[in-house]
This record gives sequence, C-alpha cells and structure tokens, in this order.
Amino acid sequence: MVKRVAVIGAGVSGLSSIKCCLDEDLEPTCFERSNDIGGLWKYTETSTDGMTRVYKSLVTNVSKEMSCYSDFPFREDYPNYMNQGKFWQYLQEFAEHFDLLKYIQFKTTVCSVTKCPDFSISGQWDVITETEGRQDRAVFDAVMVCTGHFLNPRLPLESFPGINKFKGHVLHSQEYKIPEGFQDKRVLVIGLGNTGGDIAVELSRTAAQVLLSTRTGTWVTGRSSHGGYPLSMMAIRRSHNFIKQMLPSCVLKWIQERQMNKIFNHENYGLSIIKGKKSKKIVNDELPTCILCGTVTMKTSVKEFTETSALFEDGTMEENIDIVIFATGYTFSFPFLEEPLKSLCTKKIFLYKKVFPSNLEKATLAIIGFFGLQGSILPGTELQARWATRVFKGLCKLPPSQKLMADATKVEELIKRNLIIDTSEDKLNYISYLDDLAACIGSKPNVPLLFLKDPRLAWEVFFGPCTPYQYRLMGPGKWNGARNAILTQWDRALKPLKTRVVHDSSKPASISHYLKVWGTPVLLASLLLLCKSSLCCKLLRDLQDRISPYQINIW
Ligand SMILES: Cc1cc2nc3c(=O)[nH]c(=O)nc-3n(C[C@H](O)[C@H](O)[C@H](O)COP(=O)(O)OP(=O)(O)OC[C@H]3O[C@@H](n4cnc5c(N)ncnc54)[C@H](O)[C@@H]3O)c2cc1C
Ligand SMILES: *[C@@H]1O[C@H](CO)[C@@H](O)[C@H](O)[C@H]1NC(C)=O
Repeated sequence: MVKRVAVIGAGVSGLSSIKCCLDEDLEPTCFERSNDIGGLWKYTETSTDGMTRVYKSLVTNVSKEMSCYSDFPFREDYPNYMNQGKFWQYLQEFAEHFDLLKYIQFKTTVCSVTKCPDFSISGQWDVITETEGRQDRAVFDAVMVCTGHFLNPRLPLESFPGINKFKGHVLHSQEYKIPEGFQDKRVLVIGLGNTGGDIAVELSRTAAQVLLSTRTGTWVTGRSSHGGYPLSMMAIRRSHNFIKQMLPSCVLKWIQERQMNKIFNHENYGLSIIKGKKSKKIVNDELPTCILCGTVTMKTSVKEFTETSALFEDGTMEENIDIVIFATGYTFSFPFLEEPLKSLCTKKIFLYKKVFPSNLEKATLAIIGFFGLQGSILPGTELQARWATRVFKGLCKLPPSQKLMADATKVEELIKRNLIIDTSEDKLNYISYLDDLAACIGSKPNVPLLFLKDPRLAWEVFFGPCTPYQYRLMGPGKWNGARNAILTQWDRALKPLKTRVVHDSSKPASISHYLKVWGTPVLLASLLLLCKSSLCCKLLRDLQDRISPYQINIW
C-alpha cells in the first residue's frame, strides 16, 4: 500500500502534486531547496543561487482562464495575462486555500533517490535530503519528481568560434532580470524563443541597438485575437481540434501559415522559418513593431566573433557590439537519481505518457511537468499528478515494464535508423494530451452524453475554450463548481477589461426628445421605425458579442 509520497520541488508541478496526493488520501512530504513556493515564478533580484527564475517584466503567455488549477479559478479581477508577481500571488492563494504549505520543507535539497533493497516487492525509495548542512534520510512509498524543465542554462559556446576573444560582456538569459546597465549599448541577443524575443523587445527601449540572431526563424503570435479576445481562449477549443484532425496536414499547414502571415508577413520581417526546419511559435506582441521601427534588427546565426564584432552566416558584419546575451534555452537532468534510471529519464521516449519511466518494475516514481504543451503547462501537470497518484494507489494500471521498454526501444531504434522523425521533444497537442490522461483516470468529459443531458454546458464545452474545469465535470476528482466555472468563464475574462463602462447612448431618452420636437402622428410612425432599428442594432450588437468568441480560429 502506497502511503508516504516524496514530492521534489514546490513549483507549479510540485504544488499540483501535493494537492493531488491529499485528494487521494496520500501523505505528501515536499522538499524544496529554495525558501519559497512557486519555483521559477518567484522573482528575485539576482540569480546567484543558480536557479532559473523569471525576469521582472515577464507576462504570462497563456490567458488566465486557460492556465489555472481546474478547481481553483483566478479571481475575476485578475487580468487575462499577468505579470510574474500576480501569477506568483495566485500560486500562493492556491497553496493557502488548500492548506499545502505545511507539507513543504523549505531550504531542503534532495541529494539522492535510490531504490530500497527490496524494491521489487515494496516499490519503496530511499531519499537523502540536506537542510542547511544537515543530512536526513527517509523511506518513501512513492516519489514525484517536480524539478522542472529549466534546470541548467544551455550555453553552447563551442559552436561560436572566437567567443573567447570577444572583449564585451557575455551572459545567459538566466542572469537577465531588468534592463539596467544596457543603456546606449549595442546588444546582440542570440536565440529567438519566448525569452529571446522578450529580452530583445525590452532592451530595444534603452539600448542603442538590439540585434536578434536566429538560426531557424519562428512564427510570432500576439496575446489577443479577433475582437481583442485572448488568443488562447479562441484557439484552444474542442471544435477546432476536431476540424484540425479532419484536415489533411498540408491543408492545415497552409491555412495556419496564411492566418499567421495575415497579421504581418513573416518573410518581410526576417522571421520566416527556414525550409525543412520544424515549425516553431512564440508569443510576442511587440516584436513585429520593433522590427518595423528598426529598434530590433533581425540577423542570421553568428559564424564567428572577433574582439568587438560578430560575423554572420550571410556574410554581414556587425561592429562595436558591447553585450551578447545567449537566450539559448536550458538543459535538464536528474542529478539525484542513480543510473540507469538517471539517463533513461532524460529520454522522453522512455517516459510512458511523459510521466512514468518504463524500466521500473514498480510504478512508484513519476516525473511531473517534464514536457512541452501547446498551451499552459499548469493544467497538464495537474492531470499528470492526478493520474500518477491513482497509479500509485493501484486504481489505474500501467502496461508491464517489459512491454513499455520493448515499445520504447523499438521507437528509439526506428529514430536512429531515420525511419521515423523524433517528435518526443515537440510540444504536445493540448487537448489530445489532456484528454488522453483524463481518459486514464476516467475524467474525460463525454461530450455526446453531455449534449443530451445539459446542452447549454455541452455547447460551451465543445465550441467554447477548453478550460481546465472541463476535467472536473465527471469521474474521480469531480468538482461541483465545474459547471458554473465553465458557464462564467467569459465573465471572468471580460471583467478586468470593464473598468470604464460607457452607458448605451441609444436609450429611449433620445426618442422622447424627437417626440417633443415634432409631436405629430406622422412622426409617431417614424418613431416606431427608429425604435425598431435601435432595438435591432442592440440585438445585433448583443448577438455579435455572443458570436465573436466562437469564430473559427485554427492556429
Ligand atoms: C522565462 C519563462 C517563462 C515562462 N512563461 C510561461 C507562461 O507564461 N505560461 C506557462 O504556462 N508556462 C511558462 N513557462 C513554463 C514554466 O516551466 C511553467 O510555467 C512552470 O513554472 C513549471 O513549473 P515546475 O514546477 O515544473 O518547475 P519550476 O518552476 O522550475 O520548479 C522546480 C522547483 O524544484 C526545485 N528543485 C529543483 N531541484 C531540487 C532538488 N534537488 N531538491 C529540492 N528542490 C529542487 C526548485 O527549487 C524549484 O522550486 C515559462 C518558463 C520560463 C523559463
Ligand atoms: C510560454 O513561455 C514558456 C517559456 O519560454 C514556454 O516554455 C512555453 O511553451 C510558452 N507557452 C506557449 C503556449 O507559447
């Protein structure tokens, strides 16, 4: 019987895991090496502790209704996209509401997680931790690893000849916090992911010039969609996913590219993806404008550095560069695990549904939050944790480890022989992946049945945004507030915008004015007409408000 569970890390994934353990009557103990919750969302002024954390200006890239815990909606006055401080505040509210803090041991680093000698029978783990120089040891029935995707900065200096000769300042985006110290400098940002784009835009306001170098290019989308509705609420819908899966991939790609080039032509802006490279997408509202205004200049990849300049692949040269920022991402590892588990876990092919290592005879170790998703990762970590805790308890079954290993090894072999493409590092389709996990638990919403039982709700579930509450409608983990949360999701999205409500000017008051001035039966007729048309206008406007959030938008 699994009872005691060790949770490593108290970020988004760790908090999900503690909560799900409690929901399943398990006893979680969470070890967090820093002194607070929130993981990378806890802003600090320096990164001397080597931890990856947000920069000061970071704003979420998925809207609030799409990135909340499924039974804990954001307060309605929270903006749709929020700065790091507000997002951290939400995590704090979540932890307090479900009383999670008392299960966390702060300033405690997990040093090693090894199988107990009788692992094949007990499935237990020996966990060694260190708190301010003091070591502790304890045995746990299961372990949830929640140490994140962004553990160590990737700094590929070897691919940049001459970087050692470069006299200016070189840093990794992990060290970047605020735009101070960059005034009037010529800055080269290497790497165009979400972070590289954000830093380039922010520095473009203070630096003399920002050069942004990308090897492959990327699609750039904004945070809002038609009518200013949050893009993630418009794009991530069951109805769209359904259409997407019906369309041949080349047609889908054509439509998506057309939609993205409609806002601005990526090729003209030096952003288009090199032929044959994988499609990539970032969220950035200002980058196109910065390029248009010349404050950010797009460049190809760097071929070579000299003491003060950079030579690019296309033969161009940029002189007098003061600072180079590597926004080249992160690597991950599991330093506390033992071999062969340690190496196996870094290969996503060997993680069953991205959670369970395939080589364990007992499924008592789960990796939570170690995946990319085409949407917010938060609801994904929650479903992973819901599923994992039920597997620990034996309520959900996994295929035997021999079969998992055989399958994964076969896939690895095919990739090595170039017979299939390795997609294990690609971002997963949001709805498909979440549905897959929910189906394992028995909490996947049954949409056809819902149309029979509750058509209004079913309409919103199928045609509306696929918000996390959908996974609390039925089955284990059902939450009674889920239906209402779904039916009020647009209210919460629009509430923070309605801070200046203008009263409708076409009110009967103006009609009585006409009546007073003309006051004849002839004009009574025209009044009727007017009345009708203003009513008509109002109806139309209302209808449009209701319809626009349903426009087809397949990003
Ligand atoms: C700059 C940036 C912006 C992002 N923006 C968004 C966004 O807008 N929307 C979105 O959905 N996602 C975003 N993400 C993705 C982000 O990964 C998730 O939002 C989420 O924070 C992941 O949480 P996590 O708990 O898995 O990892 P983390 O937040 O990294 O937490 C891991 C925790 O584990 C602890 N830990 C690590 N090793 C040990 C150990 N040995 N012992 C004890 N504790 C340990 C760490 O101290 C840390 O607290 C962003 C990521 C970055 C880097
Ligand atoms: C949001 O930004 C983070 C950090 O760069 C990234 O990992 C994630 O995939 C982004 N999400 C979306 C939906 O673009």
